Amino acid sequence: MNITKVVIPVAGWGTRSLPATKNMPKEMLPIYNKPVVQYIVEEAQASGLHDVVFITNQKKTIIEDHFDHNLSLEGVLRRSGKTELLESVRRVAQMVNIISVRQKEQLGLGHALLCAREVCTDDYFAVMVADDLMFGPQPGIKQLMEAALSEHMAVVGVMEAPASKVNRYGIISAEEYGPGLFRVRDLVEKPSPDEAPSRLAMVGRYILTPEIFDHLARLSPGKDGEIQLTDGLRQLARSSKLLAVKLKGQRFDTGDWVEYLTANIHFALQDEELKKELIERLKELL
Ligand code: UTP
Repeated sequence: MNITKVVIPVAGWGTRSLPATKNMPKEMLPIYNKPVVQYIVEEAQASGLHDVVFITNQKKTIIEDHFDHNLSLEGVLRRSGKTELLESVRRVAQMVNIISVRQKEQLGLGHALLCAREVCTDDYFAVMVADDLMFGPQPGIKQLMEAALSEHMAVVGVMEAPASKVNRYGIISAEEYGPGLFRVRDLVEKPSPDEAPSRLAMVGRYILTPEIFDHLARLSPGKDGEIQLTDGLRQLARSSKLLAVKLKGQRFDTGDWVEYLTANIHFALQDEELKKELIERLKELL
């Protein structure tokens, strides 16, 4: 069995990133020379997920446009002989198939996913949160796909959070039954360090089954009037239908300014042409 579809919700307000995101979707803010969402789609593509379902809204069509051809720009680059740039913009348009679904009211991540119900009918599909960047020896979502297909169950990606930061995440209560593989019993949303059942925090990568939609559809709005994905996942966990995989790699939450800026420096430093001068400038600043 193959998993080919990934839901990427991009319809949120991005209030943590204001005023930058007043008119610009936070998913389109650049990390070095690419928008955040392009890194997410590249991770999906590298994992064999070729059908991308964006959950979007009327202000965010620029995201779908980014993954389509810009024929006038391509014409300009072709005529001026800028072959390398031309190839780089054409490549983005050819990466994946785009399906777009409107979330007409921003009622939370769980609600955004529920909007994809009619298009996610396969046995398994992936969900990737568009402001969570992940890099490692193997794409984050691929690590989950392997576990879901071998264990035949829904899987969430987790990473170890420092005790001082568990109150920012959904934390799992789970037992390890293989290296880095956990059976999830329960989930606690943003617990205090004393109440946290572990330090394993859910990060924005999931492999789910259509059963999640039944749970989400039954939920009434929780905190902030939103339908939380965590509440739907809790139902799966309590009926022993949820696993967690401890992801290997590095993560940046680009909705947080410190992490966003660190990610920019991280990627710019990978560019050998930029690296030396950038380090000099950073030293001067410090
Ligand atoms: P966040 O929890 O970061 O929410 O969503 P947000 O509203 O965009 O940002 P802040 O917290 O106000 O700064 C994680 C992902 O889920 C999408 C967002 O676009 C983001 O990529 N999302 C969130 C939706 O698609 N719909 C929603 O109703 C909420």
